[in-house]
Amino acid sequence: ATGLRDLAAAKGVYFGTAATVGEWNDATYKALGAREANMLTPGNEMKWDTTEPNPGQFNFGPADSLVASAAAANQRVRGHTLVWHSQAPSWVQNLGASDLRQAMLNHINTEVTHYKGKLYSWDVVNEAFNDDGTRRQSFWEQKLGDGYIADAFRATHAVDPGAKLYYNDYNTDGIGAKSDAVYAMVKSFKQQGVPIDGVGLQAHLILGQVPSSMQQNIQRFVDLGVEVAITELDVRMNTPATPDKLATQATDYATVANACLTVTGCVGITTWGLSDKYSWIPSTFPGQGAALPFDENFQSKPAYDSLVKAYGGT
Ligand code: G3I
Repeated sequence: ATGLRDLAAAKGVYFGTAATVGEWNDATYKALGAREANMLTPGNEMKWDTTEPNPGQFNFGPADSLVASAAAANQRVRGHTLVWHSQAPSWVQNLGASDLRQAMLNHINTEVTHYKGKLYSWDVVNEAFNDDGTRRQSFWEQKLGDGYIADAFRATHAVDPGAKLYYNDYNTDGIGAKSDAVYAMVKSFKQQGVPIDGVGLQAHLILGQVPSSMQQNIQRFVDLGVEVAITELDVRMNTPATPDKLATQATDYATVANACLTVTGCVGITTWGLSDKYSWIPSTFPGQGAALPFDENFQSKPAYDSLVKAYGGT
């Protein structure tokens, strides 16, 4: 059977999933990923707590194994993520300003060099804004000030000019205070010549609550001269799932997929996993789940049929 990846390729876009090394140990799941996805995002393995757990001590083994299995499955890779306040070791969080700046640049230089030429893109900076559009007061912001984001993009571009450099965030899917702030930042980066190529809309959504302005939001970013990707799509519900909820979820998936795929410049959609068996939702939002296109037994859900249709299949 044809998977989403083949439909996506025929349209000149991609369909991707996130996965961890542990999840890919499940051979059935890995085979599903190979059938459906032509883009892979390592779920945890490229984050700072894995790649540089101690100062200057780098560990690329787990991510290398995902990059190798992606190559074997003819999948491209989205690098995720270089500068984030979460899943960062405490030694980084505890540095003073000038040491932190040095650590950031050294981390970027080393990790981006390691993967130079092998990645489609980097999520250079992740989740730097609050929902009200102000800057998140992370240890990055508190110690380095607003300029760290542009510095991280410049440093990444200097090492791997071939990778698309993304700013990635959640609750930026529709037009609102947070996406307005990201829009203003991207616009000023473009004016100043800061190298940015893309904006990632995570799209961690709640059943029945897809923002109605999503397509308009995607379009305005594309009009600024960057590409857009849906980078972490899932649509969570209170469990258990019922036929009614699954039907609503299918509508939600269709809305998101069409919002992207009708805009030239929205390059692809990644779901944050494929199967409800492997999802971050139930542990983070107790009582919620069933957020992905395949159920816990790897059977496709109505949401999957929506993706097929949006990608031009039947
Ligand atoms: O749920 C199981 C639990 O049953 C089990 O006992 C435990 C043992 O390891 O694992 C639990 O699953 C973990 C899951 O998070 C839920 O906590 C997985 O091992 C772990 O790999 C998984 O990591 C998540 C990662 O995505 C991969 O899916 C992170 O929590 C999650 O924060 C992260 O995704 C982030 C993006 O990087 C950035 N945007 C937000 C997004 C969600 O937070």
